[in-house]
Amino acid sequence: MTAVFVRRLGGALTDLGYLLLAAVPSLRAGYRWWARDRYLHLAPRYATTIRDDPAYFAPLQALLRTLETEQPTIVAEVGAGTGGATALLARRYPGALLTAIDVSPLMLARLQAGGALRVRRVVGDAFALPLRSATADLVLVHNAPFDVPELLRVAAPCGTVAVVLSSGAILSWWMRRLRPRLAGRSAGWPCIRELRAQGGIAWIFRRTPVDGASEPGPATAAGRSRWRRWPSASAGY
Ligand SMILES: C[S@@+](CC[C@H](N)C(=O)[O-])C[C@H]1O[C@@H](n2cnc3c(N)ncnc32)[C@H](O)[C@@H]1O
Repeated sequence: MTAVFVRRLGGALTDLGYLLLAAVPSLRAGYRWWARDRYLHLAPRYATTIRDDPAYFAPLQALLRTLETEQPTIVAEVGAGTGGATALLARRYPGALLTAIDVSPLMLARLQAGGALRVRRVVGDAFALPLRSATADLVLVHNAPFDVPELLRVAAPCGTVAVVLSSGAILSWWMRRLRPRLAGRSAGWPCIRELRAQGGIAWIFRRTPVDGASEPGPATAAGRSRWRRWPSASAGY
């Protein structure tokens, strides 16, 4: 019981850190310095620590259920670590090409994606992603640092950006304060869904078509139909 409480509290503080890093870029240099040492020590045991914690993956599972009809072919995961979320993505999208990005080569070296062969491991910084613009159908962050404009930059025009924080729901007051920045609404990517599961939270962002402009994304009927399945921006947060 105490161990679970301590883990939740630690998770909530870490998630708060990610939200602050997203909102206040000047904190990032200090964080990079701190994180380098932290994951050096955590890498050997990280996969086993999260494996036995169902709450850790609950919001991601809720997210994947919500995206049930989506079939992205190019998926980027930011801060993939040892691959806890990557394995779920690989299972859920067996035909997709997955790129797992992490600043720690030691974490990536231990990445196990459930035997999936299509996972490309790339050492890189979440705040300056080593990916071309407008290429990924799905960009996911699962319990890792992120920069909203960077996530939006690499997402394809009719793609999906999702941020999952496994202990984030505990921080609801803070989130209400930080969400306007998080939402990316000013960039035309409002948060269209917020999901909560076992103390965690997941946000889904989709691009809003500009009034009177042609729809973004592939000019195929399938692409347009996929786009229409989502609620309009006015239903968002
Ligand atoms: C809490 S772990 C989560 C790993 C994985 N997403 C999961 O859910 O199991 C956070 C990860 O973010 C990575 N990370 C920290 N700072 C980063 C940065 N600036 N760019 C990319 N990854 C970073 C760490 O190396 C670590 O692997």
